[in-house]
Amino acid sequence: MRKRLRTVWRSSPVAPEESPWWQTAVVYQVYIRSFADGNGDGVGDIAGLRARLPYLARLGVDAMWINPWYPSPMADAGYDVADYRDIEPAYGTLEDARALIAEAHALGIRVILDIVPNHTSDQHAWFRAALAGESGARRRYHFLAGRGADGELPPNDWQSVFGGPAWTRVDRGPLEGQWYLHLFAPGQPDLNWENDEVRAEFEDILAFWFDRGVDGFRIDVAHGLVKAAGLPDGAGVDAEPHTLLQVQGRHPAWDQDGVHDIYRGWRAVADRYAPERIFIAEAWVSSNARLARYLRPDELHTAFQFDFLRTPWRAQMLREVIDDAIDSAASVGAPPTWVLSNHDVTRTVTRFSRSQPAHLIETDWERGRWEDERPDHALGRRRARAAALVQLALPGTAYVYQGEELGLEEVEDLPDEARQDPTWVQSGFTDVGRDGCRIPLPWTETSVPYGFAAHPAAVTWLPQPEHWAEHSVEAQERDPGSTLNLYRSALELRPTMWRDTGDVKWLEVASDIAAFERGGAQCWVNTGDAGVPLPAGAAVVLASEPGVDGMLPPDTAVWLR
Ligand code: BGC
Repeated sequence: MRKRLRTVWRSSPVAPEESPWWQTAVVYQVYIRSFADGNGDGVGDIAGLRARLPYLARLGVDAMWINPWYPSPMADAGYDVADYRDIEPAYGTLEDARALIAEAHALGIRVILDIVPNHTSDQHAWFRAALAGESGARRRYHFLAGRGADGELPPNDWQSVFGGPAWTRVDRGPLEGQWYLHLFAPGQPDLNWENDEVRAEFEDILAFWFDRGVDGFRIDVAHGLVKAAGLPDGAGVDAEPHTLLQVQGRHPAWDQDGVHDIYRGWRAVADRYAPERIFIAEAWVSSNARLARYLRPDELHTAFQFDFLRTPWRAQMLREVIDDAIDSAASVGAPPTWVLSNHDVTRTVTRFSRSQPAHLIETDWERGRWEDERPDHALGRRRARAAALVQLALPGTAYVYQGEELGLEEVEDLPDEARQDPTWVQSGFTDVGRDGCRIPLPWTETSVPYGFAAHPAAVTWLPQPEHWAEHSVEAQERDPGSTLNLYRSALELRPTMWRDTGDVKWLEVASDIAAFERGGAQCWVNTGDAGVPLPAGAAVVLASEPGVDGMLPPDTAVWLR
């Protein structure tokens, strides 16, 4: 990250009619397992999502990104896909998907799916055929002999993102004794993208969903598909277990130059369609400059920039991260993207509910790092509300992870026997994993399952906390000061106050304040301990806390005119 504090978004502001929707959209992330359950089995589904589409329309989002909904044995909550052209039976049918897409479009909500090209499920027909000894199928994955006298050691030193070796040895059948690569769980064998059949298959899968009206794809692990030739050891370059969310430096498994050719092919598929179909890369790479390479004009449209969700609650660091994100996206003509949380990281409220040392951005921002410090959720929620106003005032695309608009906290005290994330097992029960940010949403001010499931006696796939009635949609709808109503107001104001209004210009203010102007409106946030005066004569259009007038209290943000 660069350390300078200079500013402006150099690309010239675009007039509203020139700006495609995806350059300024607010995209709501639907974690389908935990959004709404229409059949009462305790697992979210398409029927539940369809029933709640009016909620998303009322919230004011432009698009939704739905986490994988394909048939899956759920070794990694659906990121282990058994069939890319169908729907997981627990979620519904292709007909349900068709109806959902049509209904979302009728409400003005675009639909973005999640494509998982780095690996399939071990139950995918291709992998089963490979294990059964079909040589063509075997070449679609990475099967290798092991090292050591009897091949008893894995072929290289790569570690799985979830913990343990990235290789599993086949213990029976025609491939007995061979090892296969899985950068994630053993149930997620990596595809061999040097194989032309793999390339052709995925271009066909994209077309399958584009033909069904899907508006775009979020690309899972977009930086992982191509591995360095010969799969060399990573020793000396991050050979230790590296986490998904913290790929530092260069490792032969990640961000190889060859991956860009794949995306040029995908772009050609998308460009056959009207209206425009788009791609968003999930690529954890070492710098925004590396990320920008995925966004060259003949590649992907946007990519998540994750520095924002790693930034501690410190005004100066927020400014640096915002500058860096804007400048690097602009260098390839792409819009910046702003993410405060997702289904892989600690919820924003909890991340901001403990002390905020500067080094959090480098190492300690993932879950479970502050075990000894009790969270102050009221403080975390206050900061999360302020952060949302900063996020939604910035140029580019904003992502809202379901439950963020309710100010939900991470559930950190799940009983061990309830945990589902493969990280828990693969880390040898040392990393609790990501279940705590994936708890089913509370809809009604009742008791569990808080209207999440069509049946009140349903047992949700992850248990919900006893006190979540107060955070339910129903409770927050009644409360004008709720986080839900703050989001609704912000999304209603955003198009006129901030969309397409051009450059970020920082204002010279106290060091604990980040304050910028865009197109005549201002956004101020106070990360310090003391109130600061707001500019005389400025009208507060929206504030993250009630009663802000003249002074900006700590942990508060405002939009001014
Ligand atoms: C997804 C994770 C998933 C992993 C493997 C990530 O990028 O967001 O939830 O576990 O890819 O597919």
